[in-house]
Amino acid sequence: MKTYTNVKDLGNLQDAVKEALEVKKNRYAYKHLGENKTLLMVFFNSSLRTRLSTQKAGMNLGMNTFVLDINQGAWQLETERGVVMDGDKPEHILEAIPVMGCYCDIIGVRAFAKFESKAYDYGETVINQFIRYSGKPVFSMEAATGHPLQAFADLITIEEYKAAARPKVVLTWAPHPKALPQAVPNSFADFMNEADVDFVITHPHGYELDGKFVRGARVEYDQIKAFEGADFVYAKNWAAYQDPNYGKILSDDRSWTVSGRQMALTNNARFMHCLPVRRNMIVTDEVIESPRSIVIPEAANREISAQVVIKRMLENL
Ligand code: CP
Repeated sequence: MKTYTNVKDLGNLQDAVKEALEVKKNRYAYKHLGENKTLLMVFFNSSLRTRLSTQKAGMNLGMNTFVLDINQGAWQLETERGVVMDGDKPEHILEAIPVMGCYCDIIGVRAFAKFESKAYDYGETVINQFIRYSGKPVFSMEAATGHPLQAFADLITIEEYKAAARPKVVLTWAPHPKALPQAVPNSFADFMNEADVDFVITHPHGYELDGKFVRGARVEYDQIKAFEGADFVYAKNWAAYQDPNYGKILSDDRSWTVSGRQMALTNNARFMHCLPVRRNMIVTDEVIESPRSIVIPEAANREISAQVVIKRMLENL
């Protein structure tokens, strides 16, 4: 594997999940692969889970790992070509990336959507520059339009907790005070559409995601209808994708907050969220603290999804 930005990069998804469950049984069995190899993790945005779980995955594989926070201690980077650099950014990403590539064997990149330009965000300008100019395998630690390490961990978690062969999985929009990117719901849809699940997306009008990710999924605008018989409820906020409202908050409808009222309609569903989560905006205390909530094992599986991806990259160096 040379790049990891979407579900297709994993090849056969069932094989990938099987490999993840094997890795989880003995996560130190592949320590030889990373000997004298270095993982660089580059963050343009904050993180708790991705930072720790990916670093742990690299260490499980015997790698040296280091982290560069672009906004804390590194030079501020200009990311657009052609700009006259007379502002506050002293280094261009087109020099910085190949320099970073000199010091490592594999690079993970986190670079969220900025919501300044849909073309810039959906062109995945930053991570694609890393892929093009670093000379090293590159994986997404959440880019502008996708969070495939999260979605892979979500799928592993569903596999572990499912009671039915083909569970009903509902992705629901929920309110949030800030405009959030579509990366998590995009990748979740990308993975669920390839998995053996009955997948439903529910959100208010105006929150339609990019059709490239929605594909054949059922979109249900009535959240109550969508929740009926669900085996898994995956809550997430996202800002509008469609023009002319790209990046905007269109609704603060608190009736969409996931509570016992909606969960009572499900097939005793498991509750999932990628975290961090704003309690009593996205989900009530009662639901996230209930025994049906699996947000912690879901986060724990981030170590496993990252380890499978880095392992496959090490095997192909
Ligand atoms: N879910 C997730 O990516 O968490 P962090 O933003 O804390 O890394």
